[in-house]
Formats: sequence, structure tokens, C-alpha cells
Amino acid sequence: MTLQRVETAAFSDQKPGTSGLRKAVSVFQQPHYLENFVQSVFSTLGQCEGQTLIVGGDGRYLNDQAIQRIVSLAAGNRFARVLVGRHGILSTPAASHLIREYGACGGIILSASHNPGGPDGDFGIKFNAANGGPATEQMTAAIHSASLTIDHYWRVDMPAMSIDELATVQVGETRVEVIDPVAAYADLMASLFNFEAIAALLSAPGFRMRFDAMHAVTGPYAIEIFERRLGAAGGTVINAIPLPDFGGGHPDPNQVHAAGLVALCSGDDALQFGAASDGDGDRNMVLGENFYLNPCDSLAVLAANATLVPAYADGIAGVARSMPTSRAVDRVADHLGVPVFETPTGWKFFGNLLDAGRITLCGEESFGTGSDHVREKDGIWAVLFWLNLIAAREQSLAAIVRDHWAQYGRDYFTRHDYEGIDSDAAGTMIKGLIDVLPNLRGKDINGLQIIDADEFAYRDPVDDSLSQGQGVRIFFNDGGRLVVRLSGTGTQGATLRLYFDRHVDGSGRLNADPQQVLAPLINAAEDLLSIENTTGLDTPSLIT
Ligand code: G6P
Ligand code: ZN
Repeated sequence: MTLQRVETAAFSDQKPGTSGLRKAVSVFQQPHYLENFVQSVFSTLGQCEGQTLIVGGDGRYLNDQAIQRIVSLAAGNRFARVLVGRHGILSTPAASHLIREYGACGGIILSASHNPGGPDGDFGIKFNAANGGPATEQMTAAIHSASLTIDHYWRVDMPAMSIDELATVQVGETRVEVIDPVAAYADLMASLFNFEAIAALLSAPGFRMRFDAMHAVTGPYAIEIFERRLGAAGGTVINAIPLPDFGGGHPDPNQVHAAGLVALCSGDDALQFGAASDGDGDRNMVLGENFYLNPCDSLAVLAANATLVPAYADGIAGVARSMPTSRAVDRVADHLGVPVFETPTGWKFFGNLLDAGRITLCGEESFGTGSDHVREKDGIWAVLFWLNLIAAREQSLAAIVRDHWAQYGRDYFTRHDYEGIDSDAAGTMIKGLIDVLPNLRGKDINGLQIIDADEFAYRDPVDDSLSQGQGVRIFFNDGGRLVVRLSGTGTQGATLRLYFDRHVDGSGRLNADPQQVLAPLINAAEDLLSIENTTGLDTPSLIT
């Protein structure tokens, strides 16, 4: 095995988005493309000698190959130790945990999250830093600039190594260990939740649940935790085997892509509980019997009930939500007398708050919920949290949420996505909106009056960094809010996201359809933005 210096030329398109570098598989198949980016990460880290690196992915197409190439680069950069998940598998939250557990300087997670996989799908590389969380904006910018000037990388010429059995091999100066991807994570979960109470719930007559792993990374984790450790019946975990193309599906836990699970939780014979996770295991969707739980409500209810879970029995330090997420959790924070932080979209913005102990729980409307137990959102953790609450409160999921609404009121929320639209047209529309922001205040639209409008910027209270241009917020006189931004995770054209929310107090209409309650706001958005004209679409591609 020899150390090689390989000459290369920079690519101009390696700027990471909301969550790592995400591109079509064919882009990653270009010679040197993957190596350039990974070397840019290592060069940004500076000192790799003597350090530990965690490597794994969601099992999608290219995962195996990419791992071999990353190991050879890690050896070329003289890492002391590289830990690889068996079969190349590591969920995003499990990788975050391992980074912290082993004192690694970081981890490389191979995933394009919920985007489809397979040869015609997407691939992605995320770098998580020593705290276990996604690289900060500053580090991401440094990696991007390194990728623009790179002219060589270091690798060790090595034969392909087997990653399908637990083993330790020496590659150059680097010890490469293939480890169990599930055990440490399952132990962590057992240390946070009341497994005894959850096990009793799962074996109670009349409580039937399914966990849909969507043929993505959570299958092995869910089998170990729900079926082996908590004793749920065999078959509780469905679509449990990770496949390189996710079985042709779209591993995104929402009502459209997890329609099969929604059907199991609907009708006369509905299950009492259903849950799904995404490609890399960080998202969650949780359903009750004939009941859809919005992720914004989920965060608020978890915060309000946190002391029922052993890990949070002493209370929570504070909460955070991304800006487009509804303000439901703010009401809980007020009630508990703890701070609430409003951050830009992207889990990386929660990292400093978690590290500084300013918050315990955080979440996003995009089906992400998490806590200070790792530095990523965590799908299985959210499911266990809900099961723990249902067991502790001896109530159904729907009853818990309805009690919550009766106390705090309901923040009706919906997101409308327009996917695959022309990037220039989308950019022009957003720019046009930003230009007219100063004139919007006081304007009447469709029976509603705009009382305030701005472009969201965030000053991190821990390191004082400023992140500007994080989406437009428009506030209306009925308490409603419209948020407009472009997605930072798509790979084809642009995705326009419109987020609508409005609070109705506890004595008001609590069980209505969000699309109806929010219709005045939705119509106002059409009037203001001429969405159909800009996007060429007369209905959203996806409604959450
Ligand atoms: C990923 C990130 C989240 C983010 C979501 C949507 O899951 O980890 O933090 O909320 O993507 O981001 P987007 O930029 O597409 O709205
Ligand atoms: Zn994900």
C-alpha cells in the first residue's frame, strides 16, 4: 500500500446546500469529484494526523464504493483511526452519536437524505464536526473555497476491503475498524426513555403500531429497538431492509410518500400508532389512529410533556425552532418560562445553542425533531419520545394533542411546495418580493392587511455570527404569517416553499382542516406572488 499524491482540477459546483453536498449520482461519478470534495474537507480540518474519523451512510447507490474511496483518502491524510459502520450503514443520528462517543474530529455521512436513490437518483456527502453536528456555515464556506482551488489530493493505494463483517485492518498508518452500526445508538435510546413502560404499551391488547423504514437506513435500528429490545411483534417494522434504490420509493416521511402507512392508520381498522423515517434516519412522521400529527405541533407537545421522559425529568433549558416552523412551541416556552430561539432553516443552526446548554429540544416543520442527546435531528428518538408519552399519560396520541390545543390553542400550519421550477424565474420572484418589502406594510390583500414584512436574518447568540437572506416573513392582521423561501436541498431546478400559519385560541375551532382555516392566507399569497404565473403550476407539488 503506497501513499499517492494525485493531481486534480477544481470543480466549480461543490458548494454545499442546507445539508451537505447533494447532487445527481452521475455528477458524483465524474472522476475525482468525490475525492476533491473529501480532500477539501480534510484540508479544512487541517490536522488529521492522530485523529479519529467516523464514516457511514444510508446505504444508497454508490455508498459502498464511496466508502472505499474515503477510507483510502483518510489513510492518505494520515488519520489514526477510521470507524466504518458494517455494510457501510450509519444513520445520521447514530453517526452523530459515534463522533461524540469516540471523541472523533468528525464524521462523513453519505446521504442525500430523503431524495430518491439508485443510479438515476441523488447522492450526497455531509461532514459533521467534532460536536457531532453538521459543519457550521463558516466551516462549510471554508470547505467550499478549498474545493475551488484544490489541485491535488492524497490517497493510499489499497485493495478493496470488506465492510460486511466486524474487523480491523491497517491501511498505511491508519487503523480501520468495521463496527456494529446499531448497538451504541440502541444503548443511547435505552438510557433516555422508559423502555419498560414502552414495552408494556407495545404488548398491550388494543395497541397496534407499525414503523415504516421505507427501505432506508432505519430498518436495522428499528428492528433492534422496537422488535428485539422492546418486544414488539415481528412485522412491526415494515420495509425494513435498506436497498440501494429504496425499493424505487421516495424515502421521505410525509403523507404523500408514506401513503401506505397513512392508509394503515386510517379508517375503521386503523392502527393506534404509525411512524416513518427518511433515507438517513433523521426525519420522522408520527401518526395516531385517524390522526395526522404536524411536526410543528409535535415539537410543542414534546416540550410541554418533556418531564415525563426520564432523560428530561429535570426540565428543559430552552427550545429552538427554525423560522418557518409554526410558533406553537413558543407558547409552551412562555408557559414554562424558558427561552425560545428562532433560527434559519438547517439543523446546523441549533448546534451552538445545544453545545452551550441554552436549549434541550429543537425542531423544524420539515419533519425534524431532536434534543441535546446528539447534534442531529433523530427520527427513532422522536418515535420513542411519543411512545413514552402515550405510555406515561395513558392516552392516545390524538387525545394528548387535543388536550394540548385546548390549553395553548392551535397553530394551524401548512407548507405548499412548488418543485422543479425554473431557477431564474424563482430567483427573480424572490428578488422582486424583497424589493417591494418596504412598501408592503399597511397594504390590504384579499381582505387581510399586512402589518409587517421583512427578510429574516439571524445573529447567533453564542458566536455572534450573522446569517442573512434566510427567507421572507409577512405578518397579517389576523395573526397569520406567510413565509417564502427557496429550498436549499433540491438538485433539479428550484423548489419554492410557502409556509402558512395562524393561531386559533383554545376556545376556538380546533379540529378544522388546516387548508380551510388558512385559505385566506393562501389566497393572499397567490395575489401577492402570482405563483401560477411564476411557477407554471396551478397547484402545489406537495402539501404538508
Ligand atoms: C434538511 C435539513 C433541515 C431542513 C430541511 C429542508 O432535512 O437537515 O434542517 O429543514 O432539509 O431544507 P430546505 O432548504 O429544502 O427547505
Ligand atoms: Zn434526512
